[in-house]
Amino acid sequence: MKLLLCSLAIFASVYSQKLPNYIVPCARNKPDFHQCCIDNGVKAIPYILKGDRAQRIPPLAPLKLPKVAIEANNNFRITLTDLVVSGIDTVTLKDVVFDFDKNLIKVALMMDYLTVVAQYDIDGSLIVPLQGKGPANITSIRPYIEYEVDFSIVQKDGKEYMNVEKDRLQLNSQEAYYQLDNLFGNPQLSAETNKILNENAKDVGKELNGPITQTIRTIVTGLITGYLTRVPLDMIFLKE
Ligand SMILES: *[C@@H]1O[C@H](CO)[C@@H](O)[C@H](O)[C@H]1NC(C)=O
Repeated sequence: MKLLLCSLAIFASVYSQKLPNYIVPCARNKPDFHQCCIDNGVKAIPYILKGDRAQRIPPLAPLKLPKVAIEANNNFRITLTDLVVSGIDTVTLKDVVFDFDKNLIKVALMMDYLTVVAQYDIDGSLIVPLQGKGPANITSIRPYIEYEVDFSIVQKDGKEYMNVEKDRLQLNSQEAYYQLDNLFGNPQLSAETNKILNENAKDVGKELNGPITQTIRTIVTGLITGYLTRVPLDMIFLKE
């Protein structure tokens, strides 16, 4: 999937040099490091969801994003504007791994649901032709999200910092609902097309879940940038 625009502007990065007090560091060389990261991550989530101006993290429940644009292939593109994303506060942190041998972060998350309500503009074909603009609701039920980041370690002013190199996100949802009002500017054709999309949710999910996948990716990358890449590594992961 080709990413056209990722609305990261809201997470503008400024060096703050310090973790907020609701994120408790873990000692990298202790045997309980993995569990410590999970436990402290779980405890931090309610604070993270409220947003944190000092870390440039917007409120996440709900989250508002100006724009997400996806071009899955030459036959399909969708642009969403004025997004309101709800359900992020139903998140459960399933796992988090910081692997300093592979320079890899792995995060597994589950949500009860995730809904994106926005204005859509779609053009393309998935099973059926899709064309038009109007209000949209894309909902994923019990999404399970696996997110991986390859990082490097960079030196700034004599201190080590984490730097995001590449990221990958996989989303599997148990059910998905798509509602694209006013397709083709024709209420009856729109209703019929929406019915077909929902009957074939599994087949069209890879493309139609694109905005959800991209939104989550924007959030998690923003959190990593906000909390992890602006604070010296030895203040996030203690060496004891
Ligand atoms: C979006 O769609 C879901 C699933 O159909 C529904 O439960 C939810 O109420 C809708 N949300 C809005 C804001 O329309």
